[in-house]
Formats: sequence, C-alpha cells, structure tokens
Amino acid sequence: RPFPKRRALFVLSALLIGLSSATQTLPTPPPRPAEAARTLNDPIFPGLGQLGLDVRHYDVALTVEEPGSPTLRGVVTLTLGATRPLGEVRLDFLGPTVTAVRWNDRAVPFRVDVGAQKLVVTPPSPLLTGQEARLTVEYQGRPGVVRDPDFSTPVELGWQSVPAAGGLPGANFTLSEPNGTHTFLPSNDHPSDQATFTTRVTVPADYTVAASGVEGPVSSGNGTRTFVFTQAQPIPTYALGILVNRFERVTGPAVPVGVNGSPVARRDYFLADTPQTTRTIFSRADEMLRVLSGWFGPYPFAAYGVALVTPRLPALETATLSTIPPNLSTERAAVHELAHQWFGNDISLAGWADVWLNEGFAAYSELLWTEAQGGDGQAYAARWYANLERQGTRPLPARRAEQLFDLSAYQRGALALHALRAAIGDAAFRDFLRAYTARFSGRSVDTAAFLAFARTQAGTAGEAALRPWVESPGLPPLPVVER
Ligand code: ARG
Ligand code: ZN
Repeated sequence: RPFPKRRALFVLSALLIGLSSATQTLPTPPPRPAEAARTLNDPIFPGLGQLGLDVRHYDVALTVEEPGSPTLRGVVTLTLGATRPLGEVRLDFLGPTVTAVRWNDRAVPFRVDVGAQKLVVTPPSPLLTGQEARLTVEYQGRPGVVRDPDFSTPVELGWQSVPAAGGLPGANFTLSEPNGTHTFLPSNDHPSDQATFTTRVTVPADYTVAASGVEGPVSSGNGTRTFVFTQAQPIPTYALGILVNRFERVTGPAVPVGVNGSPVARRDYFLADTPQTTRTIFSRADEMLRVLSGWFGPYPFAAYGVALVTPRLPALETATLSTIPPNLSTERAAVHELAHQWFGNDISLAGWADVWLNEGFAAYSELLWTEAQGGDGQAYAARWYANLERQGTRPLPARRAEQLFDLSAYQRGALALHALRAAIGDAAFRDFLRAYTARFSGRSVDTAAFLAFARTQAGTAGEAALRPWVESPGLPPLPVVER
C-alpha cells in the first residue's frame, strides 16, 4: 500500500522541526493549531499567507463588463516556488466564485474555505523546494469584503465599486492595504512575499484602465478594449493598483533618476473635472523624484504618477501609480505616496507590526521636501512632537491592527529618523538612506534588521539614537537638526 503523501509530509516536517529545535536549543514553542502553523503567523494578521509558499509572478486577466458594478471575471496564473515541500497550496481568497483551477494546465481538485479565507488546491504531487509550477484560477462574480482594521476610517478594502451618479461614470479600483487584495485576487496576501505582475484588464471601449507598471499596446475587441501593464520589479500584493474610469492620461518628460540614471516614465490619470490646481500639484512629481532620489538613491521602478479616485478614502501608494482621493490632493500626500515607492513597495515589510518602517519614512519625506522648498524642517518635526505629546504615543512596533496607521506609526516613526539624522549629521544620514535602499531593494525588512543595519552603517551612535524611539513607552526628547 503506498505511503500516503500527507503522512510522508507530516513525518518530514516533524523531522525538520525536530532538527531545528535540536540545533538551536530553543525552548519548545507552544503547540499551534494546525491551520495557524500553515500560515505566515503574522502577529497582527495570523491567517494571512502560507508558510513556504513563494509566489514569483501573477499573470492577472480581469474583465469588467460594467464599470461601477462590483462584478468581475478573472483568470490568474501564478508562478509558484516553495521554500519547503507543499502538499497543498493555500492561497488567500475571499473573492468571486471559483469556476476552474489548473496546475501546469491540468485540472486539479480545489476547495474554498470561506471561514479561513483560503482557496485550497491539491497539486498532483507536492511542490518541492527548487521546483516551479503554474497555478491557474478562473473565477467570476462579486468580490468579498474585508473591513479596514483602522477603525477611524470605516472603509471596505480591496475591489472598490463606485456606481455611476450625478453625471459621473461608474468606476472601479483597488484599495487594498493591508489585506484587501485577496478580495479580488487569489494570492499569498502578505507583504513578505513580493512578486512581479502582468495585469490585463478588459473594459467597455469608452473606458480607460490604469495599473501598476509600464503600459503595453491596447487591443480592441467587440465593443471592448484590453489594456496591459508590466510590473517587472517585485512588489507586495497590496501595492497592486488597478483603476477603471474615463481617465484622461497626461504624460510628461521622463526623469533620469532610475537605477543607473535610467529614465522614469511620467504619466498621471486625471478625471474630466480634475481642477487645474490639483493637476499642478501632481505635475511636480518630477521635482519630487529629483529631491527624494537625492536622499534615498535611485527610484526603484520604471514609471511614476498618480491616478485619481472620487470617494473620500485614504491615499495609497499603489506601485508606480499612487491612488489619490480628492481629500488628499495635496503636495504633502503627493510626496508621501511617492516616498512609499522606496519604503513599502521596493523594500517591503516582513510583518505588519513593523509598518512604521513604511509610514515613518514616508512621513519623513514630507519634512525633506519642505526643506528642499526652503521651509523649516525642524519646525515640522516640532509639530509632530507636539501632536504626540498631546495625543499620546507608543513604542514603534504595533501590537494591534488599530495601531497600524496611527499617529505613532507616522510621526513617531519619522521622528526616529530625525533622531538618527541629528546624531550622525546630514552627510552620513544621506549615506545611510542610500545604503539602506541598496541593501534591501526587492526584499523585506523588520525592525530588528533595520536596527542591525543602522548599527553597521551608522555605528553605535546611530543605533543608540533610534533605539528609544523604537522601544520606549514614553516620548524621548525632541531631536534637533541644526542647519
Ligand atoms: N499607506 C497609506 C498611506 O499612508 C495609508 C493606508 C491606510 N490604510 C488603511 N487601511 N487605513 O499613504
Ligand atoms: Zn503612508
């Protein structure tokens, strides 16, 4: 009788766990429920992701027949690798009805576990380390709903639908941070698993699609148009931006601030009624790219711009194409979302608890931009400090979902960087930022890795300046940068 594969896997993983605990002489961890052991065990979102799964590429094809309605049709092919043998692939998914699943083009068994928000696929044989496979999922219907964990903004994350109203056309777009992507895309929906994307979207011919990456040729069908975009550098799943509207696409001269001075294409997607003041703010992205790349090093992607949406929502740093609601059509948001292309998208989070590493850098870029305009950066820092004194603060690693996007993540995170700069001076701070982006480009980082890097790159004085901001329950003294 053949040895059951599941059993073989179980024995293998038991052996591996035994080996690692024997060599590390760590105390035996408490037993976890079987389900949790298979996820990435993110302390904030314990259900997300699959341990050992490495999605390298998503080839996404969506059809939006009626923009503004939530219904969509999708065919996605994921290129999978594994860092441990996988007898099942468990993708995050809370999306429309799955109609077919294929493994290397052959139909395979699957089931949807709605409670766990997983699409579970059983391959013909386990996916082994070093192997690659293609997993295709076809689905159609209404995307699921994930509530924003930030209770101050009662937003439903993921695929957004804005019905036509008041003379405005219907529209759809993604707004997924932190965990909304799996409402419309079966995915390993955790930022530690960055991937590249090809995104193809078919819409009625009078609509335009904007998405993360570089646009390819548009093809026309029977009353439809299909747009295609290539995101060739890996990004976290929440950073995939897809927007459907009657956009006006405005291009500008490329900016030579990419890797090795390569050109960064410029395109923004405005709406018919977008005021000139708003257009002017976002047309300054070329200057912002120059100022920020001066501090952070080369811009990591091949294009940058914004796409506007109409509901009042948080802005989001969707890769190469930030998503901007009307309430955040400001210079501050413009520079903030641009900075996230380095911090969040190119360098991603190893876990959600350390989201301050995204928000602190993005907020700090507002100060750097203010200074580049001749403004008073120290006064900017002093305002953050006063806000934290007034509203209270916490150590930087978040412990609960409601803390992810709070004042401390943004403003205390930014002050930690201000403290580092005050301790080592502008020249060393610039070197630090450039070395950090070079070291972690295309990778994930957590607070411990960041501090360790600070110690090697900026010395014990640099690390010592950061540490109280990371760890202390109270507010360390206001750092002062003399200029
Ligand atoms: N990363 C976004 C920004 O600061 C914020 C996203 C807030 N997300 C949320 N779910 N509330 O630009
Ligand atoms: Zn931000």
